[in-house]
This record gives sequence, structure tokens and C-alpha cells, in this order.
Amino acid sequence: MSATVKRPCTAAEQAGLDPERIPAHVAIIMDGNGRWARAQGKDRLSGHWQGYRTLKNIVYAADELGVRYLTVYGFSSENWRRPQEEVGGLMHLMLQAMRAEIEELIQNRVRVRVLGRLHELPPDLRREFEEAMRRTQNFDRLTFNLAINYGGRAEVVDAVRLLARKLQRGEITPNDIDEAAVAAHLYAPDIPDPDLLIRTAGELRLSNFLLWETAYSEIYVTPVCWPDFSRQHLIAALADYQRRTRKFGAVVE
Ligand code: FPP
Repeated sequence: MSATVKRPCTAAEQAGLDPERIPAHVAIIMDGNGRWARAQGKDRLSGHWQGYRTLKNIVYAADELGVRYLTVYGFSSENWRRPQEEVGGLMHLMLQAMRAEIEELIQNRVRVRVLGRLHELPPDLRREFEEAMRRTQNFDRLTFNLAINYGGRAEVVDAVRLLARKLQRGEITPNDIDEAAVAAHLYAPDIPDPDLLIRTAGELRLSNFLLWETAYSEIYVTPVCWPDFSRQHLIAALADYQRRTRKFGAVVE
């Protein structure tokens, strides 16, 4: 008698998704912490702390559903313009969060990377991030990219500066500077471009996030504020993505 061995259903299948068409790279603009806090009668930092709890859920949900790379906008190069108390509170939150989460991230073989001008961050936070990157560098599950002190234009400027130095040293000629050369000097050149960009809290803009990398990303905007964004909302975004036809500038019949 031959028994049919059934493959256990993946989390993606259980969620009604096609496991073969899960976007490899999902990027998220986590917006609406302040609005969420105001609606609750709380201060803005409470919104950011609730946003951290959401982020933790979404990291593990994304990994479980088969996403390979998750990139989130944690702190933009423009966020320094916020009141000093909020900026300080966010730096403190990131330090506490990194310290609290690192062992669980390691247990789950999540690779942490931090993208942005790290040298401008407070030294203790920079050390914590560098330590997290070092300790998780060989992991093969989800790669979790935190964009911190990140700006899309600054990233392109930094890439151009690296190329200019190579040109000055005579290592390259102007004709070597093409799209592939610029892409190779961005903060995470080995990571594929985002397939799906999610923005919470309803605004229809990119806010200087991954400007180069999102050239052909599918964009999904939800009115839900980040602190309320759940695994179910992530599944809804992935389902919407799976209903789309990607064209990359070509004609698709
Ligand atoms: C945008 O909401 C959110 C931020 C500027 C910060 C994002 C930070 C977190 C989600 C906390 C966890 C982060 C890490 C890296 C552990 P907003 O303040 O602009 O909201 P508003 O537009 O409603 O005012």
C-alpha cells in the first residue's frame, strides 16, 4: 500500500497566498505613529513605542510568510528636524529595542543590516547597530534592513562620491559610470530591489525612501496607521501584490 505523503501547508498557503509569488523584498514606510498617538490621547513617543511592537510582529510574520528581505524606514535624514525631545526619544527607543531584541533575532537566524549615514548617530547606538550586524552577518533567514539616518538622495550622493574617488585615483574612466556602477555603490548593493513598497497612514509619497531602488516597485498604500498594522494587513498587501502584473517598462499581453 502506498501512502501519499502530503507536504505540510506553508504559512503563505494557510494565509491564502501563492508561496511561489511572495515578493522577495518588501520595503515599508512606517507612517502614522503620531496620528495614532493623538487619536489615543497619548504623546507622540507612545506612538513610536507601539510602532516598535508592530515592527517586531511584522519582522517575524514576513519571515514566516517567505519574504527574504524586509527594509523599513526607521529614521530619515530629515527626521532630525523634529523637536529635540522626540529625536532623543527615538534614539533611546532604537537603542533599547536593539538591546532587547538581538538575542531573539539571533535565535531566529534573522540577519540585521542598518542602512544610512551611521557615523552621524550617537556613538552608543552606532556601536549597538554595528554589533548586531556583526553577530548576524552569516544568517540565512530573513534579512532585516533598518534604514536609519537614511535619505534616498544622500544614498545616491554617497555612491557618486565613491565613484568620484575611484575616478580620481584612475581606477575607472567616466564611461565606466553607468546604472550598474551606481547601483553597485549604494548602501546594500547585494540586495535585490524591493518588489513591493508598503506605506501606512495613507500619504501618497515616497518621502526620500529608496529612490533609486524603487524604480519598478509595486506600491501599496493603506490608511491604517503603523501601530495598528497587523499580520493580517501584511497578508492583504501581499495578496494585492499577487494580483498585479509587473511590466518593468515592457508590454505584457
Ligand atoms: C513615522 O510616524 C514614524 C517614524 C518617523 C519613526 C518610525 C519608528 C518606529 C516605528 C519605531 C521603531 C523603530 C525601530 C527602528 C526600532 P510619524 O511620527 O511621522 O507619524 P505622523 O505622520 O502620524 O505624525
